[in-house]
Amino acid sequence: MLDINKKEQPIGVFDSGVGGLSVLIELKRLLPNENFVFLADQKQVPYGEKSKRKLVALAKRVTNYFINNHNIKMMVVACNTSTCSSVDEIRKLYTLPIVGTVPAIKVAMEKTKSGTVAIISTPSTSKSETLRKLIKKYGLGKNVLNIGCKNLEDAVEEGELSSPKVKHLLAKYLKRVKNSNTDCLVLGCTHYPFLKGAIRKILGSNVKLIDGNKAIARQTGNLLANNFLENNQRKQGKTLYFTTGNPEKFSKVASKLLKTYIKAKQVKI
Ligand code: DGL
Repeated sequence: MLDINKKEQPIGVFDSGVGGLSVLIELKRLLPNENFVFLADQKQVPYGEKSKRKLVALAKRVTNYFINNHNIKMMVVACNTSTCSSVDEIRKLYTLPIVGTVPAIKVAMEKTKSGTVAIISTPSTSKSETLRKLIKKYGLGKNVLNIGCKNLEDAVEEGELSSPKVKHLLAKYLKRVKNSNTDCLVLGCTHYPFLKGAIRKILGSNVKLIDGNKAIARQTGNLLANNFLENNQRKQGKTLYFTTGNPEKFSKVASKLLKTYIKAKQVKI
C-alpha cells in the first residue's frame, strides 16, 4: 500500500563527518523541495581506518537511528568508505531505498585522454574489494594509480582547507600523480571536494578533478521517482543537522563549508 505521508518524510544522509556535506550540497540543489536529515557520525571519525566488520556495524546503527527517530523514506550513504564496505550488507537488511557513494571511476575512465587515471581515497576504500572491482570493470587498458590517504579527512574535519598541514599531506599524496601523465583525478572520499582549491594549486588546471556528487543527486532523484516518493510540496524543504560528536564544532565547520549558518544538535545513537 502506498503511504501518502511517506512522501513528506525526510531523506537520511550520513557520513563520518562533514565530508557528506559535499553530497548534501548537490542533493539540495537538485531536489530543493525534499526534507533532509544529515547525520555526521563524528564520534567515530575517521571511518577510513576501520575494519569492514566495524563499518557494517556502524552503518546498521545509523540506519536504525534514522528509521526509528526520523522515519526516513530513503537513505543516502554520503561516504565512500561506508558504501564500499557495507552498503551490500545494509541493502540486504532493510527494504528502504538506499543510494551509495562510490569513487567515480567510470567517468574518469571515459574522460581520460592520456590513459592514466589516479584515485585518492581513504585507506579502507583504497584497499576495498569494491574499488578493486570498479577498476577491473572500467579500467581495462588504462594505467591506474590507487592512492590511500591517511589524515586528509581529519584536516577537513577541523575546517582546514589550505593550512600548512593540508598542503603538506596533499604534496605527499599527489607526488606520484604529479610525476605521471595523469589527466583525471578521482576524489574518492566525500571530504576531498572541499580541498579542490588546494589540489588545483599542486596539480594545475590540466588535471580534471572528478567527484560523483552530482551523479548521486541525480540517482537519488531517479530512485525517488521510481518509488513514487517525490515530495510534491511547493515550498523549500527543511534540513536538520545532527552529530554524534561535538555540535558546536560541527556547526562552526559546516557553516564555513556550506557558506550559511548551520546549527546542529548532538545525538547519542
Ligand atoms: N567521507 C568519507 C568517505 O567518503 C570518510 C572519511 C573518514 O571518516 O575516513 O570515504
